[in-house]
Amino acid sequence: MRLQSAVKSSSASIAMEGSEGTSKIHVIHPVTKLISTFPSTRYYGSKRKLLRSIYAHIRGIQFNSVLDAFGGTGSVSLLFKAMRKAVTYHDGLLFNEDVGRTLLADEIALSRTAVQDFFANVSPCTGVISRNFEGIFYPAMENHWLDGFAKLLNDRSLTVGQGALLRYLVYQACLKKRPFNLFHRANLHLRTNTGIARSFGNAVTWERSFEHHILQAYDELQHAIKPFALSSHILPSGNAEDIPTGYDLVYIDPPYVGLQDRYNRDDYWRRYHFLEGLARYNDWDARIDARSKTREFAPPSWISAWARLGSFKERLFALIDKHRSSIVVLSYVTNAHPPEAEIKEYFESKFANVSIHSAEYSHALSKLRKRELLFIGYPRT
Ligand SMILES: C[S@@+](CC[C@H](N)C(=O)[O-])C[C@H]1O[C@@H](n2cnc3c(N)ncnc32)[C@H](O)[C@@H]1O
Repeated sequence: MRLQSAVKSSSASIAMEGSEGTSKIHVIHPVTKLISTFPSTRYYGSKRKLLRSIYAHIRGIQFNSVLDAFGGTGSVSLLFKAMRKAVTYHDGLLFNEDVGRTLLADEIALSRTAVQDFFANVSPCTGVISRNFEGIFYPAMENHWLDGFAKLLNDRSLTVGQGALLRYLVYQACLKKRPFNLFHRANLHLRTNTGIARSFGNAVTWERSFEHHILQAYDELQHAIKPFALSSHILPSGNAEDIPTGYDLVYIDPPYVGLQDRYNRDDYWRRYHFLEGLARYNDWDARIDARSKTREFAPPSWISAWARLGSFKERLFALIDKHRSSIVVLSYVTNAHPPEAEIKEYFESKFANVSIHSAEYSHALSKLRKRELLFIGYPRT
C-alpha cells in the first residue's frame, strides 16, 4: 500500500511514503530554494541560470510525467525533479548519460571517502590520451593522470552508477582545467604561456589538481542529490527523434543553429568530443582521426544533423509534431534559424493554445545580449 501525506510548515513540508513496514520521510523544500542547491556548470547552452524564469512559466501547468529530450547538464531535469515530477532524461552524447545518471540519482553512488580512496589510487600511465593528445589540451603529466584514471576504472568492478559518478567528477574537473571550458581548439598554450595579460579564464583554476576539482564537484553533488518520491529514468544516449511519445509534457532544448552555417561549425561535438572519448575510453584510440588538430573522432549522425542549417528546421518541427498530444515546451533564442515568427506560426498550427515568454540573457563567452524564448503549446483535445 502506498501512503502519502504532506504536513505543511512555514518554509518546508514533510511527506511520508512507503509500503507496509517501511517508510521514508522527505522534507519538501520550496522549489526556488532547491534551485540554489543545483550544481554550477560551465556547459555551453545550460539553462542553469534561467531555471527561476523557466519555473515561473511552468509552475502553473498540470502534468506528472516529463521528458527532457536534450538534457545536457540535467539542470532542467533537476528542476522537474524538484517539482516532484516523473522525469525521463535523454541526451545525444554518451558522456551526458553519465551526467544524467549521476545528478538524477536518488543517492550518491559512492561516499566521499570512497571517492577519495579511489582517486588516491590513480597511478599515471601511458594510454590513449598521452599517446594522442600531447600538447593539445593538457600538459603531459595531466594526460598521464587521465590515462591512469581510465585504467583504474577498467580494473575495478563497479556498478553502472559508480562508474558514471567517477567519470562525471572527472568531466567536471576536465572542464574547469580548460581555457573557455571547451575542447574546440588545440590551445594548451593559452594555459602554459606565462607572463601574458589575459582577459579570460583563470590560471589558478587551471593549475589546481584534478583531485581538487573532483572533490569540489562531489561536494556540490551532495547538496543537489536528494531522494524524491519518484525516481528519474535515464534513456540511453541517442537521437531525440527516436524517443517514443506518451509523456504529459515534453521539454525541448535543442542546439541553436545560427543564420550563417560557417558559424555553426563549433557544435556540441567539437566542443565536447574529448569528454565523449573519455566516456568510451576503450574504443577511443581506434576512432581518433590523427589528421584532426584536436584529434576528434567522427560524431554520431544525429549530432551533425541537428547542428547545421540543412535539415534542422524540418527535424525540429517533426519532433514537435510527433509530440503534439503532449504539452510541448521549447526553449529557444532570438537570431537563430528558423526565426521565432516561424516557430510561433508552427506552434499555432499544431496546438490549441500557445504562450510565448521571453527573457534577456547574455552568454558568458559573448558580449551579445540575446533574448531567451519559451514557447508552450497545449494540445488539442
Ligand atoms: C542547448 S543544449 C541543452 C542544455 C540543457 N537543457 C541544460 O540545461 O544543460 C543541447 C543538447 O542537445 C544535445 N543534442 C544535440 N543533438 C542531439 C540529438 N539529435 N538528440 C539528442 N540530443 C542532442 C547536445 O548534446 C546538448 O547537450
